[in-house]
Amino acid sequence: MRRYLISGNWKMNTTRATGVELVKALAAGCEGDESVDVLVFPPAPYLIPILDAVKGTSIQVGAQNAYFEEPGAYTGEVGLEMLQDIGCETLLVGHSERRHVFGETDELLNRKVKVALDKGFRVVLCVGELLSERQDDRTNEVLDTQMAGGLKDVTAEQLGQVVIAYEPVWAIGTGHTASPEQADAAHANIRGWLATNYSTDAAEAMQILYGGSVKADNAAELLGQPNVDGALVGGASLKASAFLPIIQAGIAATKG
Ligand code: 13P
Repeated sequence: MRRYLISGNWKMNTTRATGVELVKALAAGCEGDESVDVLVFPPAPYLIPILDAVKGTSIQVGAQNAYFEEPGAYTGEVGLEMLQDIGCETLLVGHSERRHVFGETDELLNRKVKVALDKGFRVVLCVGELLSERQDDRTNEVLDTQMAGGLKDVTAEQLGQVVIAYEPVWAIGTGHTASPEQADAAHANIRGWLATNYSTDAAEAMQILYGGSVKADNAAELLGQPNVDGALVGGASLKASAFLPIIQAGIAATKG
């Protein structure tokens, strides 16, 4: 059975102090039950104190972004070696804000995915359609294109280090969550793409997270869907009081 992964993308939020306080509260809240994995993506400047704060706990830490080139003249960028140097080996790639605010293309994202996997990172690759694409009935086509683009030249072996996050753009930060049926259908399409392009085993093994206005009161229903293996939470991951109930929903879903 696939493990649930409940993850929090802090985006450009928190301070060093509130971030450290948050992971400490999460670690305390998760102590004694590690039946689901918990992963947070703090802002880059806080990775070191957060990594220190989670030492000896079950909380995992990833980076929201990195550049694929070797160290050199890339002003403003954070290199993958730098992340490895500080003990951070999970990378979020292709978040809708990277795609739509910063104009990152499937081609550029694929370079990040490939280089990160080659260096031994775990990659959480985000895919998701715009509202207009859903209204035009193009959701599956968009997801297939983003999967093919993001995972180009990724080997079957490397795929074991990939997690997919389905985040419909229209559901991010809007309060309009995809219905459990909409989420499950998109996840099933992603799994189908993996079965066709890799193998049924690879498709079955893949953790596929849902993201987009996940909250304590809708988490149980979303996580109860057969193809939903976790959540990528934005706003509700910024307070332990909002995030811990989502983790609890994952634990309850694991126990069936
Ligand atoms: P919200 O949970 O705030 O909608 O954000 C989702 C998201 O973008 C997580 O990566």
